[in-house]
Amino acid sequence: MKKKPNYKLRRNMAKVILVLLILLPILIINRTKILNLTVYIPNMKYSSIIDSMFEIGYTKDEVESTLNYLKEKNKISDETQNYILKLDSKGYKKSTIDYLLRNINKTQMTEFLAKKYNKDYEEYIENDLFDYSKFERYLAYQKKHDKLSVDEVVFRIELNLDKTYYEDSTIVKDPDDITVLTNKYLEIPEDYEPKDLVDMDSKYANNTYGQKKLRKEAYDAFVKMVDAASNDGVTFYAESAYRSFSYQNKIYKNYIYENGSEKAEKYAARPGFSEHELGLAIDLANIWTITTKGEEYKWLSKNAHKYGYIFRYKEEWEDITGYSAESWHIRYVGKKIATDVVNKNMSYEEYYIKYIANKKNN
Ligand code: DAL
Ligand code: ZN
Repeated sequence: MKKKPNYKLRRNMAKVILVLLILLPILIINRTKILNLTVYIPNMKYSSIIDSMFEIGYTKDEVESTLNYLKEKNKISDETQNYILKLDSKGYKKSTIDYLLRNINKTQMTEFLAKKYNKDYEEYIENDLFDYSKFERYLAYQKKHDKLSVDEVVFRIELNLDKTYYEDSTIVKDPDDITVLTNKYLEIPEDYEPKDLVDMDSKYANNTYGQKKLRKEAYDAFVKMVDAASNDGVTFYAESAYRSFSYQNKIYKNYIYENGSEKAEKYAARPGFSEHELGLAIDLANIWTITTKGEEYKWLSKNAHKYGYIFRYKEEWEDITGYSAESWHIRYVGKKIATDVVNKNMSYEEYYIKYIANKKNN
């Protein structure tokens, strides 16, 4: 009997041939580019020559001869050639060399070349938030906090966590932005008052000692959230909401008076540095304050982000936020961002630095 042809084998062989037909020309063209630099280089930009050199995996000789050629054609200076060769011989990889050539000046390069090869440096340089001018600060901070990863060090330096609280603070550019970050380093202008503050209904706030106010968008979301919680049999309301600079000052001073300044610094922001001044933060209560053990906290942990609210101060973030945990303080940032923050399980500081302030991620 005639043997049945092996169709499966044939099909697979056809696939292999097809892949080779596609890949081979690419490989050949790339290789030809290396071997025929004289033809290609005059028409290529310096940066793309460097890119292709490393991408294709030049041998040492090829790198050297290419660089010589580039120099002959006045495409690179002796100095750049020197930098590339030195960095390459120290063992730095393409992306590191590339970054350094494009981003640091001569003095910095001399400084960098004086350092011994260090794998950590490559990890720093590869970090999305890496900034050469902060290199020494990263290294000093890492020395002090040796359990932190390179990523943790870099975003903490970006937040200025190596600096003293309230010293050299920066004024936030757009306090009206719903996503704005304020903390012990980022200050709200003293005369800032949100233009869209609305009075909170007594169903949603304790107005006994003064009318509570919130920015409209945050209030509308809060009403929806309180109603949804109420449908689930859970009650809470705003005990404190918007605070002016002078009111925050009173609260801060009063905290010092009642608890001493060490404790006050851990629980109360100095005037100019409180999210309450943005009209986007609320301190919750249900007769008593909200605790992590209570059903209100559990409900909020599961649902608050769906209404655009997040917890700002948790125990695990104390070294980032500079405040002790506050299970009663929530902040409005909008539904989309709140959900992302919760999914990423990050402090708002970390999230803000990595995903809002970092233009590379936007
Ligand atoms: N209790 C928080 C930190 C504030 O005063 O804004
Ligand atoms: Zn608060």
